[in-house]
Amino acid sequence: MPSLTVRSSGAADWAALAALYPAAFPDEDLLPLVAALLRQPAEVLSLVACEGEAIVGHALFSVCSIVGSDCSAALLGPLAVTPAAQRKGIGSALIHDGLQRLEAEGVALVCVLGNPAYYGRFGFRAESAVQPPYAPPPESMPPEWQGAWQSLRLPGAEHRNCAGVLTVPPPWRDEVLWLP
Ligand SMILES: CC(C)(COP(=O)(O)OP(=O)(O)OC[C@H]1O[C@@H](n2cnc3c(N)ncnc32)[C@H](O)[C@@H]1OP(=O)(O)O)[C@@H](O)C(=O)NCCC(=O)NCCS
Repeated sequence: MPSLTVRSSGAADWAALAALYPAAFPDEDLLPLVAALLRQPAEVLSLVACEGEAIVGHALFSVCSIVGSDCSAALLGPLAVTPAAQRKGIGSALIHDGLQRLEAEGVALVCVLGNPAYYGRFGFRAESAVQPPYAPPPESMPPEWQGAWQSLRLPGAEHRNCAGVLTVPPPWRDEVLWLP
């Protein structure tokens, strides 16, 4: 089996991403979001995982800020691994690589909206001091969404006081993307 590598994505990778997302998310069309984020390269860290030449996974981290705080932050998502290659550590490799790169850039906090059973293994924990840009009222929150809004303080920032509302890049400013 070819070894796994993780690298920054480029324009030539779009065809592979356009095939990867519908396969990984058959019930959700995330390509418009991904395309819009990739059009703002200064605002994203876009990583692809490759087995040989084949792209088998993709992770996006968006540069964010927190209103009323000097904490530098990022939002993880989407994260996609091609179905035939899932549960082989590819998602983990993308996350670990991204977190290392963000730490080197001095980012303090990484947020994610996702399954705590998955993101918890990387150290993400339920976040309440930093709020997502849109949050459904608690009474409309399905039980499986409890704890879905999470964050991770990167090494060196464990004791930083990060609090406030996360400001996300424009492609993320669509309430639908934040609803259960
Ligand atoms: C979720 C996803 C990105 C994980 O990537 P992956 O490469 O399959 O994950 P890994 O192999 O790194 O998984 C590491 C561990 O997490 C577990 N895991 C994988 N997917 C999981 C999930 N959805 N929920 C809980 N645990 C999960 C694996 O069992 C594995 O545990 P193990 O090492 O004890 O076997 C991938 O399954 C995927 O693309 N799914 C469809 C799209 C999606 O849901 N994306 C995330 C939301 S943005």
